Amino acid sequence: MRILTGLQPSGKLHIGNYFGAMQPAVHLQDQGDAFYFIADYHAMTSMTDADTLRANIQDLAIDFLACGLDPDKATIFRQSDIPEVNELAWILSTVCPMGLLERAHSYKDKVAKGLDANHALFAYPTLMAADILLYDAELVPVGKDQKQHLEMTRDLAGKINDRFGDNTLTIPEVQIKENTAVVPGLDGQKMSKSYHNTIPLTGGKKAIRKAIMRIVTDSTPVEDPKPTEGSTVIALYKLFADESQLQQMIDDHEAGGFGYGDFKQRVFDVYWEHFAHVREKREELENNLDYVNQVIARGAEKARAESTKVLDRVRKAVGLR
Ligand code: ADP
Ligand code: TRP
Repeated sequence: MRILTGLQPSGKLHIGNYFGAMQPAVHLQDQGDAFYFIADYHAMTSMTDADTLRANIQDLAIDFLACGLDPDKATIFRQSDIPEVNELAWILSTVCPMGLLERAHSYKDKVAKGLDANHALFAYPTLMAADILLYDAELVPVGKDQKQHLEMTRDLAGKINDRFGDNTLTIPEVQIKENTAVVPGLDGQKMSKSYHNTIPLTGGKKAIRKAIMRIVTDSTPVEDPKPTEGSTVIALYKLFADESQLQQMIDDHEAGGFGYGDFKQRVFDVYWEHFAHVREKREELENNLDYVNQVIARGAEKARAESTKVLDRVRKAVGLR
């Protein structure tokens, strides 16, 4: 089974991205023929600085490997290494009604947040559909926010098949990661870089500790019992702590006599330990960028072998060849 998903290189990964996207991707690489790509064309819809984009692409490639994606199991590549994806996006756009794009939540949300309403942002769904259809992907695991984009992908593939023949494109199944908990941010809302409430996946000890100390809590005095229900400290601790550590944390909340500074220190300690391996691996890769670049180059070759096949088929079906 061909599994495919993409991540935008739009900033430093945070632990919400790790639990919501990276960890599931690492598990899935053992369950099928996995294609994971760095969605760099897509990132251009929100990023305007070339040097930052370049650095983010490199960073995400390192993160893919540091988090445990294995280039011997999965095809890891960069979207723009296969620029033919734009050709398929064009072909899809010829069957794509304006109304379908106008209904896209993601577009409407981004414009409401102040991003420029340019053509790329509007046409995002056709490029995303091409990302998926160019590789005959059968299963696409994504977060809930991407559900509509996947429905559009299936819709566009269906329209092409209706017009040009049933076997032109493979209609993918969607896997919505319903059971991946939404990781809360420092303020208790969903962790997201747009809310500036993130705990980065990697970084210096001091800076991360400082971030964790900013977790929003109530003002219960040290000696009093503290609420466990709806506690961001506990929700974050749960991601890393074992059962007995978690029980201790709950007991100490209920007993009183411990301050939030103490609890946050415990969150930091388990966090730091949990990602020790990722940090080490990152450091090793940062010192071996040739290897990282080789992985991405090899990924591009493997991806191209697939994309060429599919694009040939589509060109013939639609009459370009
Ligand atoms: P951000 O909200 O920080 O911009 P993205 O939208 O780029 O993050 O998300 C990239 C991936 O990480 C998606 O698969 C998304 O579902 C996942 N993800 C992002 N934030 C969280 C979170 N707080 N909890 C779980 N998964 C998340
Ligand atoms: N739009 C996705 C996001 O913002 C990233 C993405 C681009 C993607 N192309 C894709 C995900 C194809 C899955 C399949 O998270």
